[in-house]
Amino acid sequence: MIIRKFKPTDLKRVYEIENMSFNQSYGINMFQQLYEMGVGFLVAEDEGYVIGYVIFWIKYENQGHIISIAVDKNYRRLKAGTHLLIKAISILSMLKIDAIYLEVNENNTAAVEFYKTFNFKIDRVVPGYYEDGDGAIIMYLPVERGKISTQ
Ligand SMILES: CC(C)(COP(=O)(O)OP(=O)(O)OC[C@H]1O[C@@H](n2cnc3c(N)ncnc32)[C@H](O)[C@@H]1OP(=O)(O)O)[C@@H](O)C(=O)NCCC(=O)NCCS
Repeated sequence: MIIRKFKPTDLKRVYEIENMSFNQSYGINMFQQLYEMGVGFLVAEDEGYVIGYVIFWIKYENQGHIISIAVDKNYRRLKAGTHLLIKAISILSMLKIDAIYLEVNENNTAAVEFYKTFNFKIDRVVPGYYEDGDGAIIMYLPVERGKISTQ
């Protein structure tokens, strides 16, 4: 498995993975726009086949943000998500940021468990955050001058 930069030819496949992973979709145009905006956009590739992606950026001057991460259902629990997030965190933590934030559906226990393995902490819960009325758990990972906090 390799982690590499997203290419426009990956668009359909990334959209497919997003569709099988979330109830609400960003839509294919949004991925194209995010790419054109120059956000961090990486894919995991297994023998030439894209099996996952991560999108991230700097939301505020001192805050990294994971916009989206997903792995194809048939390739989960094989550490693709871990490799993608490690790379995203290592890129973000080279910048002058205090923390990396993300939102996760309050019912998405798999993702919460996944983020906890990286030491992400729960900041707060925002009721009714998603269109379907589900709340979001806001999680963050403190970053200290290029180092990731382990406490
Ligand atoms: C969350 C997601 C990206 C994880 O990707 P993955 O490649 O399957 O994760 P990994 O194999 O790297 O898992 C690393 C660790 O995270 C935890 N974890 C991952 N999936 C889990 C699950 N379903 N239940 C409990 N813990 C889980 C485990 O500790 C796992 O280590 P282990 O397999 O040795 O026990 C994947 O489940 C996914 O695409 N989900 C749908 C989209 C999504 O919810 N994205 C996050 C939105 S905020």
